[in-house]
Amino acid sequence: MIKLMANKNRGAEVDTSAYSFAATEKIRGLHESLDAYSETPLLELKNFAAEKNIRALYVKDESKRFGLKAFKGLGGVWAIYKVISRALGLDNPTLEEIFTHRAELDAMTFITTTDGNHGKGVSWAAGLFGCKSFVYMPRGTVEIRAQAIRDAGSAQVQITDMTYDDCVKFTARLAQENHWHLIQDTSWDGYEEIPAQIMLGYSTLAYEALRQMNYLRPTHIFLQAGVGSMAGAIAAVFAEVFKENPPRVTIVEPTEVACFYETMRIGDGKIYSATGNGRTMMAGLNCATPCELAWKILRRYSADTATISDDVAAEGMRVLAANKIISGESGCAGFALANAALNSEELRGALELDENSIIFVVNTEGDTDPANYARVING
Ligand SMILES: Cc1ncc(COP(=O)(O)O)c(C=O)c1O
Repeated sequence: MIKLMANKNRGAEVDTSAYSFAATEKIRGLHESLDAYSETPLLELKNFAAEKNIRALYVKDESKRFGLKAFKGLGGVWAIYKVISRALGLDNPTLEEIFTHRAELDAMTFITTTDGNHGKGVSWAAGLFGCKSFVYMPRGTVEIRAQAIRDAGSAQVQITDMTYDDCVKFTARLAQENHWHLIQDTSWDGYEEIPAQIMLGYSTLAYEALRQMNYLRPTHIFLQAGVGSMAGAIAAVFAEVFKENPPRVTIVEPTEVACFYETMRIGDGKIYSATGNGRTMMAGLNCATPCELAWKILRRYSADTATISDDVAAEGMRVLAANKIISGESGCAGFALANAALNSEELRGALELDENSIIFVVNTEGDTDPANYARVING
């Protein structure tokens, strides 16, 4: 099942200059200086596009990022680098400079809540600098995701009995009580600096993709959202690069956890939490409240928001698998909407998809839950 809603109450101009190519240069510089760095692939699905009668469809494959199977480390490592730089009183230090401050690094601890991939990025990045980290996960998390976070870096990981939102509040409190650094990928009143840096960290994937596409302007971008930080960041880059005519951005969420859908449905400009039952296999998108910073950008730069049920996501995973792309439940969501919409005359019309359309999507994760991946693909 798919529901689509137009963003009828578009916000005022937003300053996206922090996402310009020049302003994000240092971020790419950090990413490129990491041993685990290599540009992730951009794949053009030519047969698919021909079959669906559109001009092109590009998939940026983040399942290959830093060996972590997801894009999230881009934000975590940049935010942690910024926190460490500031704590050491250094301006734009190299990794080598940072590593000379062993005692200070040993004393630093990072903490976060995650439904999987962000925590893996934080564990990896904290481990990279030799810092301690704690990662807390909401109820319903499968153990294999917790173990993957431990394996990625330094984190001690605990699956709690809390919802994602309650878990975020819990880790924010722990951070305050223990003077640890909270690296959360969503913002709220009074907590904006770190999430802003995390979002900026995601810009690298967009600039890589733009270069790989020779700066061809996509007509449509379908971006999956949990709290919307990824979607907001990518929308901001494309709005910055194609100032006069930004691509049409559609947000994609699971049917039962659709906070942007609810926010646009009410449409008074404020954020609203999802009202569904919270059940979805799209674990990375299972976040009930939008990130304020992301909403500011998406309120202006998204044209619509869509919800997809798990069966639509599963079909997207299978089509990507048939195109040799390993895409997990949340990873495929943007593509899954494109795939389903292109099969429906009504949705083609509503999204203004035609033979001139150039679609850009991000495969944000690989098989981060291998057992479920196998079940879906063989299913
Ligand atoms: C694989 C994957 N895709 C997309 C997202 C959504 O990112 P955001 O929460 O910034 O909207 C997440 C978030 O954890 C994720 O893990």
